[in-house]
Amino acid sequence: MSMMIRPIVLHPDARLKKKSVEVERITDAVIELTEDMMATMYDAPGIGLAAPQIGVLERIFVMDCAKKENEEPDPIVMINPLITACSEEKSIYEEGCLSIPEHFAEITRPELVQVEWVDLKGKQHSEEFSGLKSTCIQHEIDHLNGKLFIDYLGPMKRQLITRKMKKFKREKLRGVE
Ligand code: NI
Repeated sequence: MSMMIRPIVLHPDARLKKKSVEVERITDAVIELTEDMMATMYDAPGIGLAAPQIGVLERIFVMDCAKKENEEPDPIVMINPLITACSEEKSIYEEGCLSIPEHFAEITRPELVQVEWVDLKGKQHSEEFSGLKSTCIQHEIDHLNGKLFIDYLGPMKRQLITRKMKKFKREKLRGVE
């Protein structure tokens, strides 16, 4: 086993706008991919990472919402995740994204979600989530459908962030710090 930190795809990029495909079988390659995703997420650091963010268009994401100092790590891998129900009640979180570094916005989403997914052993799960985990799961599943958190913003705000990200990527290419 050799975990690899993979480069994170930055917005704007066509790969972040595509719908990812279902995973048919949990192969060694899938397991290795999730290990790399976990390592990449912790390295960033972030609380969630979806496969398209490292350029792999498969319905997989990893998350760990235990971010307080003394909290035990809580790594979760979800394969083919599906939201089967959500609450009328909403909650608002300030969201960010590893593909849109240094930009944040308050996004309103359902407070509770019921989620079905498959784990790395091929076992089917169904569980209800609330709070930060619920928001994180919804954000990551959006990635699998080619949607970013800035797509919830008005066009002016979204275009401003996209312009700044284009500039950021140009400067990164040139090696400007
Ligand atoms: Ni994201």
